[in-house]
Amino acid sequence: MKVEVYKSTDQNPNLTNYEETRDNFDWQEVEKHFSWHETGKFNMAYECIDKHVDDGYGDKTALHYKNGDSRSSYTFKDLKTASNKAANVLKDAGVEKGDRVFIFMARSPELYTSLLGALKIGAIVGPLFEAFMEKAVKDRLQNSEAKVIITSPELVGRIPVDDLPDLEKVILVGENVSADYVDFKTEYEKASDEFDIEWLDKEDGLILHYTSGSTGQPKGVLHVQYAMVQHYISGKYVLDLKEDDVYWCTADPGWVTGTSYGIFAPWLNRATNVVVGGRFSPEAWYGAIEDLNVTVWYSAPTAFRMLMGAGDEIVKKYDLSSLRHVLSVGEPLNPEVVKWGMDVYHLRIHDTWWMTETGAHMIVNFPSMDIKGGSMGKPIPGVEAAIIDDSGNELPVNRMGNLALKANWPSMMREIWKNKPKFDSYFIGEWYVSGDSAYQDEDGYFWFQGRVDDVIMTAGERVGPFEIESKLVEHEAVQEAGVIGKPDPVRGEIVKAFISLREGYSPSDELKEDIRVYVKEGLAAHAAPREIEFKDKLPKTRSGKIMRRVLKAWELNIDAGDLSSMDDD
Ligand code: WTA
Repeated sequence: MKVEVYKSTDQNPNLTNYEETRDNFDWQEVEKHFSWHETGKFNMAYECIDKHVDDGYGDKTALHYKNGDSRSSYTFKDLKTASNKAANVLKDAGVEKGDRVFIFMARSPELYTSLLGALKIGAIVGPLFEAFMEKAVKDRLQNSEAKVIITSPELVGRIPVDDLPDLEKVILVGENVSADYVDFKTEYEKASDEFDIEWLDKEDGLILHYTSGSTGQPKGVLHVQYAMVQHYISGKYVLDLKEDDVYWCTADPGWVTGTSYGIFAPWLNRATNVVVGGRFSPEAWYGAIEDLNVTVWYSAPTAFRMLMGAGDEIVKKYDLSSLRHVLSVGEPLNPEVVKWGMDVYHLRIHDTWWMTETGAHMIVNFPSMDIKGGSMGKPIPGVEAAIIDDSGNELPVNRMGNLALKANWPSMMREIWKNKPKFDSYFIGEWYVSGDSAYQDEDGYFWFQGRVDDVIMTAGERVGPFEIESKLVEHEAVQEAGVIGKPDPVRGEIVKAFISLREGYSPSDELKEDIRVYVKEGLAAHAAPREIEFKDKLPKTRSGKIMRRVLKAWELNIDAGDLSSMDDD
């Protein structure tokens, strides 16, 4: 297929030159942006909020929150006060430096202020997506030995407190809160608006994001305070944030994009940040851009494909002329979506590639770079990427292999929570191996090819087949289950489950629906299989491992490759 090239525009002559920046780059120079370089006083919440008040920007709008027709705005001074109060509420609830504090609620101003408040104490925050059901919540809280969770009345029933011996307090943000919980709003009203921030070390914990692999339970990816250096500089160069920008990242803080680029990068750069509550709809989204005059917009391929599917007419009903810079993350950005973006928004959509584990941007389409439609771009300054074989040898251009990164950037994960072997398994020598396959072309652009493992990417969300299979086999009718990602034009992939039934159960549409709902209500809506196929028997290795590779080949009608390890009796 012919590659379309979209030149970096003449619209903005002040764009930072990629090669020049890369060739002169030094992480230690970036550190000098921060006052902690001299003072030694360091805390992500301070650098995001209080510092701007100290520097005279207290009255600048830090946050616009919009949900349907309701709208509220907060200055940096407002957020300083609100996060101080939240920190006092959490401190009274017993939170101390290093404790894991989970935040489990829908996007709301309280989510952001309590997250900042927890950081001011030096706690490690664990944001949980509101769609998680009991099992998903339990696994994450148990593994991290969480001490406190902040939640809402709609979600509190999904926290199995009896199974969580380490959980000391549940803080509820709601009305008429029963005595079983800490009443956030009442305590917040009473709390002092002064708080002594806990000054931290660069390697002190910041945030714990759980993410799925192809085997085992979800992994707790730990990032530390020092990651801010990379959040800051990628916000400046890649998001291209400037003083007057109104910036909207559509991701929920339950995913890493919603924290690194929905909280840290914009506020470290003193941008006005937009949070939109509620569900996706083209009207709500375009309406938000129009109403709030969004200038920089960071979203995902699935969203762009849904907007594309909604047709070009709807775009004309909104004034989107405030937009000047658009970015995408989470899955491959199809060349036709980039082309469509040029047609309807008259802007290039800049693809960015990175992972929960990398904490921040790795490979991107820098604003000043020519975009090759379908390519992820090139490594950000300060990051070295390569394509390597399974022994760690670098491969020549245009050869597909493991996408790997030289492991020494600031926002690199420091730990998989309580799982050193898992952490170690990411590395071959000095290379961090991403689990993605890709190649690099003769101009240095990287091209994503797929996951090396069985991880499913559905609507930009990473779901591990193992977690779903484990839930499926808990259903009374399910004997065995194998789960794969099936290609889908809008969602990238959908979750498809192959299931063999127990004695006494027979296939039916009702049973399929029952199983689907079982996963949806027990684990999470996005993990529920959109397709289920019953089989008498699933393909397995002699050691009893379900061969997802064979299921995938069945699905795609392709050759399953080497079947020598398959147990065929
Ligand atoms: C995939 C999201 C193609 C990839 C920030 C990676 C992408 C995984 C892109 C990480 C992209 C992310 N093009 N694939 N631009 N960005 N991915 O941890 O497979 O939720 O390994 O982080 O998403 O997903 P995660």
